[in-house]
Amino acid sequence: MDDHGVLLQTAIPGPKSMEILERRNKYVARGISNNCHSFVNRANGALVEDVDGNTYIDFAGAIGTINVGHCHPKVVQAIQEQASQFIHTGFNVMMYESYIDLAERLCELAPGDFAKKAAFFNSGAEAVENAVKLARKYTNRPGVISFTRGFHGRTLMTMTMTSKVKPYKFGFGPFAPEVYKAPYPYVYRRPEGMSEQQYIDMTIEQFEQFLLAEVAPETIAAVVMEPVQGEGGFIVPDLRFVQRVREICSQYGILFVADEIQTGFARTGDYFAINHFGVVPDLMTISKSMGAGVPISGVIGRAEVLDAAAPGEIGGTYAGSPLGCRAALAVLDIIESERLNERAQLIGAKVMGKMNELASIYECVGDVRGLGAMCAMELVKDRQTKAPDKEAVSKIVKAAGERGLLLLSAGLYGNVIRFLMPLTITDEQLETGFQILEEAFAVVYH
Ligand SMILES: Cc1ncc(COP(=O)(O)O)c(C=O)c1O
Repeated sequence: MDDHGVLLQTAIPGPKSMEILERRNKYVARGISNNCHSFVNRANGALVEDVDGNTYIDFAGAIGTINVGHCHPKVVQAIQEQASQFIHTGFNVMMYESYIDLAERLCELAPGDFAKKAAFFNSGAEAVENAVKLARKYTNRPGVISFTRGFHGRTLMTMTMTSKVKPYKFGFGPFAPEVYKAPYPYVYRRPEGMSEQQYIDMTIEQFEQFLLAEVAPETIAAVVMEPVQGEGGFIVPDLRFVQRVREICSQYGILFVADEIQTGFARTGDYFAINHFGVVPDLMTISKSMGAGVPISGVIGRAEVLDAAAPGEIGGTYAGSPLGCRAALAVLDIIESERLNERAQLIGAKVMGKMNELASIYECVGDVRGLGAMCAMELVKDRQTKAPDKEAVSKIVKAAGERGLLLLSAGLYGNVIRFLMPLTITDEQLETGFQILEEAFAVVYH
C-alpha cells in the first residue's frame, strides 16, 4: 500500500466488490447497514485498501475504534503473540495475567483518587448493560437516566436508553422499564434570541425540573451521560451542565456514569473526555478504541460499586478475552509513547481550521464544533432556519467515498459529518483527505 494515500484503480465500488456485494445482499440481513459498498482487503494506519486495489483515506476510523491506526505493529505483535500462546481459556475457567495488568493500568489512569476496580466485556452495549446492573445492585434502586440524542447500544436495555427512534428503536418495543430520558444541551439549536449562558441556565433548570416532574431522584441508580454525544452529532455539553448533574448525583446518592465508549482513548486529547469537565465519574464505560479493533469493553470505577455483584452475577464467556486484553495493553503503550493525546489536539485544530474554511465558503455549514479530535460539522438548508440537510450529508459522504475518502455521518437528523480519523494519520494523509472533502463539497454544491 502506498503511504501517501488515495489510489483509485477502478470505479467505486469496483468489480470484485460488486460481485461480493451481490452475495452480501443475498445472505446477509438487510438491517445491518453499510456506508460503503466496497470490501476491504487490508488496512494500515489511516489507509484502507479494498479488494479491487483501491486505497482510501480513513476519516471514519471504524466508528471511533481505530484511534491508534489500523494494524498498528504493536497491536499486531501483541495479538499474534497471544494467539500463539493461547487464544481463550475463559477468565472464569482459568485466569490470565493480562486481564489483571489491564485492570490495574486502567484503574490508575481513570479519574478519581479513590479505590477503583474494573470488569471487562465484549462490546460497548455490554459495558453499559453491566454498568447499569452494578449501579442497581449497589444502590438497590431501579431507575436509570440517560439523555436525549444519547446512544448507548442496540441491546434491549441500551436501545431503551438510546434516543434516536429511527432506526434504533422503531418497531422494536416494548422497551425496558425504569429508563428516563433527560434533556441534554444543544447550544447550536437553542431557542432563537437566547444567549448561550441563558440557554445553559435553562438546561440546568430543566434537569432539576425533570427530577420533580418525571422521576424522584431517590429512585435513580445511575445517570449515564456521554461526555460528548457521539452518534447524537458530536455535541459538546457546557461544563456547568455536566458539573451540576454531577453535583445532583452526589446529593442524591445517584451514580454518575460517563459513557466513554466513543470519546475515550485519546480521541478528545485526553485518555477520557470527562477529564475536560472537571468532574469525576463513579463509573466509566469504555470500548471501541480500547482494543484497536479487537472486541473488548469494560466498566471501571469505584471499587465498592464494582464489588456490589457477587461472584457469577456479572461476566460472560468471551468477556475480557486474552486477545482483547493484550490489544488494549498495546493501545495504552501506543497512546503514551506516540503522545496521541497531544496529537489529537493538533489534529483537532487542523480539522476545525478546515471546517471553518468550508463554513466561510458554503452557507450550508451551519455549525462546526468539537473537542480535541472529536470534530463535526452540521449541514443545514438555511443558516437562518437551521433546517437540517441530511440529503446533502449523504451526497457528500458518497462523493467523498467515490474519490477515496471514508466519511461518517451522525446526528439525530443525520445532517452531521463527523471525523474519527486515526490519531496516527500523517499530515500528508490528512491534507489529502481535506482536499477530497473540498472536492466532495464542490461536487454537491456546484
Ligand atoms: C457512546 C456509546 N455507547 C455505547 C455504544 C455501543 O457500543 P457497541 O456498538 O460496541 O455495542 C456506542 C457505539 O457507537 C457509543 O458510541
